[in-house]
Order: sequence, then structure tokens, then C-alpha cells
Amino acid sequence: MADNEVNFGFKKVKMSEKPRLVNDVFSGVANNYDIMNDVMSLGIHRIWKNLMMDWLAPRPGQNLIDVAGGTGDIGKRFLDRCKGNAEVKIVDFTQEMISFGKRKTEDYRYKNQLAWFCADAMRLPFSNNNFHSYTISFGLRNVLDINKALEEAYRVLRPGGRILILEFSTLIDKNLQRLYDKYSFGVIPWLGKVIAKDKESYQYLVESIRNFPKQNELVDLMISAGFKEVKYRNLSMGIVALHSGWKL
Ligand SMILES: C[S@@+](CC[C@H](N)C(=O)[O-])C[C@H]1O[C@@H](n2cnc3c(N)ncnc32)[C@H](O)[C@@H]1O
Repeated sequence: MADNEVNFGFKKVKMSEKPRLVNDVFSGVANNYDIMNDVMSLGIHRIWKNLMMDWLAPRPGQNLIDVAGGTGDIGKRFLDRCKGNAEVKIVDFTQEMISFGKRKTEDYRYKNQLAWFCADAMRLPFSNNNFHSYTISFGLRNVLDINKALEEAYRVLRPGGRILILEFSTLIDKNLQRLYDKYSFGVIPWLGKVIAKDKESYQYLVESIRNFPKQNELVDLMISAGFKEVKYRNLSMGIVALHSGWKL
């Protein structure tokens, strides 16, 4: 296959290089990842993640695959909602994020229901028709081939299973978008430099948000991957969007 150029933030890199570059970003930020999320979003990422769970409405006895699961925020919320009567597989391709997540959940009461896997969203190490739910939170924009990741999601979901995608998106108001751009390009890389001692990684993070498909474009990609009843909700006026679809 030709090694075409793809976006890595606003830079163009060879397709074959991108996974390692993304991996380097998250290896570098793993130890400060949680604190940076709280600082950058003023804690609002917690509300967005809770809203994702509200819409998913997990039920006891279900299983979840949380892809690009990072330090386990979504997996834990799912288990909490099911009072531990559920199984969660967390998949992430950055070992440092998984290690941090494992340390963070050492004393978590449902930690035995959490299993961690180091793998790529485009090649999930699970058989077909396996999971009731598939979630990916702030992960899809980093994946080399979004279509492939969505096809994998579809493959591993059971018939009747559901996908929920939480991702940065496009604000519904252009003036607010300009204000938000000023904040994200002006402040976030600087916060990365001060708190995580890593300006470049946070520069990549804000740039990668701008390359991600808009709300309706992601709907189309989900439909192309086979999902039905695809809908989305804007959160915080479109700073992020939650997309839902079903394997029917
Ligand atoms: C911004 S973090 C999100 C972590 C977590 N889901 C959350 O919401 O806090 C993105 C995560 O995606 C992972 N990631 C990026 N590309 C991936 C891929 N192709 N396959 C699996 N994980 C990936 C990174 O290692 C990182 O842990």
C-alpha cells in the first residue's frame, strides 16, 4: 500500500509514521494526563463523560469495550453504573497510559471487572459479535484510519449492540468558535508547557481537534460503517459531540 501523507495535527507525515507519533504524544503525557484534562476543561470533561454514560444507560450484566480508553475514566463509570455487575475491556495502544490507569485503579472496588489490552483501535483482539457496547472517548481523532476503526467497532459489537463516540467537534456559533480557537491555541499549549513540561504534545492535541470530521460528517462515516439510527448531541454548544449508533 502507498505510504501516503496524512495529518498529524497541522503537519503532514507519512501514514506509516503517524501511529508512532501519536503513541509518543500519549507516552509523554501519560503521568500528567488526568490533571491536564481537569485543568484544560475546568473539570468539565467529567460532566461530558457522565453525559455519555447517561445516554448509553448501561445495564447490569452487560459488557463494554472502551477503545482508546486511556486511564480508564469511561470503563470505571460504566462499572459504577452497573454496580460492578458488568465486564469492561479497556483497549489502548499506549502502554504508559494503561500503566497509569492500572495504578489509578489499584484500590478501585470493581477493578477485577476491568481488563486492559494494549492494541490498536483498527485491529481489535476480539472475535465478532462480542460486546453490548463500544465506547471511544476523545480517541477517534487520533486513529490513523477512522473508517477502519468504525468497521472494527461494528465487527466486535453484538447484533443489537451500540456505539457511543465522545469527541471534540465544531461549535454551532462561528463567533464562539473564534473565541474558543483563541483559548485552545493560545492557552492549552502553554498549560502543557507549564504543567506537563510538554508544549508540542498539547499543540498536537488542539490541532488534531480541527482536523476531525464535523458532526454531520461523522454521522455519514458511521452510516458507511454499517451503523443504524445514528444520532448526535452537541455538548457545551458543540465543543464536543456525542454520537450514537446501533448494530441492528
Ligand atoms: C485523549 S486520550 C483519551 C483517553 C480516555 N478515553 C479519556 O477520555 O480520557 C486518547 C487515547 O487514545 C489512545 N489512542 C490513540 N490512537 C489509538 C489507536 N489507534 N488505538 C488505540 N488507542 C489509541 C492514546 O494512547 C490515548 O490514551
